[in-house]
Amino acid sequence: MDRIVVNGPCCLNGEVEITGGKNAIVAILPAAMLVDGVCRIENVPDISDVECIISILKAMGAKVERVESGTVEVDCSHVTSTEVPYEYARKFRASYYFLGALLGRFGKATVAMPGGCHLGARPMDQHIKAFEQLGAQVEVARGDVICRAKRLTGADIYLDMVSVGATINAMLAATKAEGLTVIENVAKEPHIVDVANFLNSMGANIRGAGTDVIKVQGVGALRGGSYAVIPDQIEAGTYMAAAAATGGKVLVKNVIPKHMECITAKLEEMGVSVTEFDDSILIDGTASLKKTNIKTMPYPGFPTDMQPQMATVMLRAEGTSKINEGVWDSRFKYTEELIRMGADISVSGKVATITGGKELLGAPVRACDLRAGAAMVIAGLMAKGTTTIEDIDHIRRGYERIVEKFQGLGADITLIKG
Ligand code: EPU
Repeated sequence: MDRIVVNGPCCLNGEVEITGGKNAIVAILPAAMLVDGVCRIENVPDISDVECIISILKAMGAKVERVESGTVEVDCSHVTSTEVPYEYARKFRASYYFLGALLGRFGKATVAMPGGCHLGARPMDQHIKAFEQLGAQVEVARGDVICRAKRLTGADIYLDMVSVGATINAMLAATKAEGLTVIENVAKEPHIVDVANFLNSMGANIRGAGTDVIKVQGVGALRGGSYAVIPDQIEAGTYMAAAAATGGKVLVKNVIPKHMECITAKLEEMGVSVTEFDDSILIDGTASLKKTNIKTMPYPGFPTDMQPQMATVMLRAEGTSKINEGVWDSRFKYTEELIRMGADISVSGKVATITGGKELLGAPVRACDLRAGAAMVIAGLMAKGTTTIEDIDHIRRGYERIVEKFQGLGADITLIKG
């Protein structure tokens, strides 16, 4: 089993380049199913979730080629299959985007229901409601979600809660539906806007992405084209948090500073100096840090996907900070690993109380999920001695070359194979 070994403590210093957004590309690649022609997609991160979707696309008959580093060409013109089998779907959650894309293109789709995960229940009722309102019949049978529609017709869809996945799936299914679809109470994350921009650049007619209401005027066909994925907000936030947690100074390059404001504001509140440039952010975490409180929320609120990494910053701050998890039922499992390293954390329901200033000691720990894994790496950098992180497949799902990037910032970190 591969492991990441970190020898700390270390104060990060230098520059790091951010790659394309995971939560954008995991929707954009399935969205290519709606396009008749070649989609050239740039700034594609080299992560295992992308590999997994590429295997699904290929298994379904699409032509996919990595033409150069970070650029993928996808041609789904000859796909006839409308099924994503369990062996692929179980590997990553966002396989549900094939439902909206296949339904939009073929009027039918069968995708194995994504398995459970470490964040608590992940229902799909809002995705299903959106498909039904567009005219599809949806059935959940033997672990598959099966959608069929004679034709999809534009509709008014009101989402009962703000959901990234349901918003994107509704947009995908509505892109080629007949007439106008109005989706209300939608998610506003940067990757929602990116998926809409991708579809529009291929000929779709989607307005309002990034606001509370998205309007999709159905179009007959989408043509091929070129598109560059936005930088990953959470990867950037992770390196910002790592700089702050280790008392370092890091220039995070290839970011959209506007997308980082929710994270920047919190770090500044804690006493970190953050300087924004056009497409980079300088984090100076050399001063002492103050406690803070966080409640995670849909964008533009503080992102749940930065919650574990910010917990490590709180471990360096003076005083007691609180995190209130407002999106997922269960996102504090990783705190047990931090406690094993000496952290002073208690969890009650959806609130974690973190008292900073205790010395962390290296220990063997697990990456419970993707972002928890990133937090383990940061904690390893902060701790005295050796931290060995297991279950690192979670980390590979969403962080490109994490070991090399931290090495570039001066960390003593190694990937041990086998
Ligand atoms: N929800 C429902 N019903 C639905 C859909 C969602 O009750 O039909 C609930 C969920 O249970 C959750 C909340 O609504 O409590 C928000 O879920 P959302 O649908 O927004 O999450 P998601 O689309 O499944 C994406 C990201 C997650 C990220 C969340 C929230 C992708 C592939 N995943 O998940 O990313 O935490 O949005 O921002 O985009 C990660 O990258 O580490 C990650 C877990």
